[in-house]
Amino acid sequence: MTEAIRIQQVSKIYQSRTGPVHALGPVDLDVRPGEFISIVGPSGCGKSTLMLMIAGLLDITGGTIEVNGKQVSGPQTDIGIVFQSPVLVDWRTVLGNVMLQVEMRKLNTNDYIARAHQLLASVGLQDFESRYPFELSGGMQQRTAFCRALVHDPPLILMDEPLGALDAMTREQLRVDLELLWMQTRKTVIFVTHSITESVQLSDRVVVFTPRPGMIDRVIDINLPRPRSFEVRESVQYNQYVHEITNIFMGYGIFHEQKQLSEVS
Ligand SMILES: Nc1ncnc2c1ncn2[C@@H]1O[C@H](COP(=O)(O)OP(=O)(O)OP(=O)(O)O)[C@@H](O)[C@H]1O
Ligand SMILES: [Mg+2]
Repeated sequence: MTEAIRIQQVSKIYQSRTGPVHALGPVDLDVRPGEFISIVGPSGCGKSTLMLMIAGLLDITGGTIEVNGKQVSGPQTDIGIVFQSPVLVDWRTVLGNVMLQVEMRKLNTNDYIARAHQLLASVGLQDFESRYPFELSGGMQQRTAFCRALVHDPPLILMDEPLGALDAMTREQLRVDLELLWMQTRKTVIFVTHSITESVQLSDRVVVFTPRPGMIDRVIDINLPRPRSFEVRESVQYNQYVHEITNIFMGYGIFHEQKQLSEVS
């Protein structure tokens, strides 16, 4: 079986004004078709760098990346991307923003309009299709961005902290929406997050990165039933996964226990 993504010995060194910055790698990772994979790692460990290289938007310093069996050497067209900010076009409606993806790719709008309606309905936006971005909450804007990333039916979706800018309650709801959306479409997803619980809740596998230069510390299979309801999230097994990842970061000194007042003073 062809891997959806094959990352082999990939590294990135940026040339900056103050000298070279070794941002990432070497990293080896195979992603299976239809897999939901999360990358968690400390700030600055090269997560966005890796996403940009997979998308073909940034040169690779060393190693190779293959997407669907083809080596990445320039911008990939057959992917959907979601960033932290939804980046919607102000003067287009919700439906217009989703269909922009189709129009920019010069695809036939008649072939995709039904899919756009269906995606928007699946995230609860059926009554908001003719609203403009300024009329929407942050969560609704990001749901629109999810639909835009999916409407042209790409096999691969790259998400770089897509829920990072949302308030805690909206974020909670969007995790649930995102899992359901993924279960319906079964796209290959690479999802970058700082949230350990989010990675466990959503993923088939969690890839834990070291501090910069980011390398893979551990890949953890998350064997939990889907959808990951509140019951699942309260299970012992779920919490064991969260602990396992937390402990890795504690080992790097990224988290530490609260000190006794007497130790501080
Ligand atoms: N254009 C650039 N020139 C020089 N250094 C860069 C450039 N872009 C990123 N870096 C450095 O590379 C490292 C990795 O950056 P990157 O944005 O990939 O990290 P990240 O894991 O996505 O961080 P965060 O979680 O904060 O988003 C950082 O130390 C950053 O300062
Ligand atoms: Mg980043």
